[in-house]
Amino acid sequence: MSNRRDFIKKTALGTIGVSTVFSCKEITENKQDKAEGVIGSTPTKPLVISTWNHGLPANEETWKRLKQGRSTLDAIEAGMKIPEADPKVRSVGYGGFPDREGKVTLDACIMDHKSNCGSVSFLQGIKHPISIAKRVLQNTPHVMLSGKGALQFALSEGFVEENLLTDEAEKDWKKWLEASKYSPVINIENHDTISMLVLDKNGDISGGCTTSGAAWKMHGRVGDSPIIGAGLFLDNEVGAAAATGLGEAVIRTAGSAMVVELMRQGKSPFEACKEIVERIYNKHKDHKDMEYLQVGFIALNKNGEYAGYSLRSGFNYAVVDETQGNRMEDAQFKMKWDN
Ligand code: GLY
Repeated sequence: MSNRRDFIKKTALGTIGVSTVFSCKEITENKQDKAEGVIGSTPTKPLVISTWNHGLPANEETWKRLKQGRSTLDAIEAGMKIPEADPKVRSVGYGGFPDREGKVTLDACIMDHKSNCGSVSFLQGIKHPISIAKRVLQNTPHVMLSGKGALQFALSEGFVEENLLTDEAEKDWKKWLEASKYSPVINIENHDTISMLVLDKNGDISGGCTTSGAAWKMHGRVGDSPIIGAGLFLDNEVGAAAATGLGEAVIRTAGSAMVVELMRQGKSPFEACKEIVERIYNKHKDHKDMEYLQVGFIALNKNGEYAGYSLRSGFNYAVVDETQGNRMEDAQFKMKWDN
């Protein structure tokens, strides 16, 4: 956890604004806006973007599969399985922070350019929820399976049940139980969903999300990540968007669907992400969730323009294309976060 904190400190952008909201400084004269259009301004395809540092190895795997000519859904699944299997990634799959009962419960979804969707929520004991979401899309008449039903379906598809609670996650959970205070640490305990958006060589768009959700959530809680329109949305005529951050805030505002609708109305990915983050801020500034609220979006459009924007600093995303390879980019943000 400390590595993540160090990383955030190292990558935090300079403070520009003045007014203090909790421990954040609002950027009143946002110099970042002057760079608007710079990030993602060289449209290219194929293009893959994924949230956070763990997006980098995920992108690499997805890119490899795309280059091998595999289907985009196969490529997304292969990429997302990397952080799902990595016990050091504490917010996705195996090794993820459990809920307050010590159970690791997983949410995931996947969507293709024809608007076919598959999703699982509150799934336990299966290491790769993204694979089950893909099977829901391909092998069922439904969009979403949840809890025991999702597990039953996974087992019927040949997946095996395993313990996803690592010793380290169990230790962290027992430590959390001492105070049992639900106030997830910004950018660390409830914000590391991996969301991935792909524009393939034909100009078709697909995406996926996978997460173990907010650390220390109530048993049964489902976040935005498996909900089409909240954690992920795309319209192949327009573009795609995906979220990271406090799922409750993203669900309340249908975040990703709204970003895509703004792009349909002519906004750039940057403008669309920024407007929805502003909307979420305005709706939550007097809300109890504001104390630990972080939300971020990534978006791309049909032309291969892309961007990321978050409420609080510290959010970054991985981008891979033909010209510049696989790299991290810092998202622009509304408020500086002094963790
Ligand atoms: N965005 C992940 C969650 O809230 O579960």
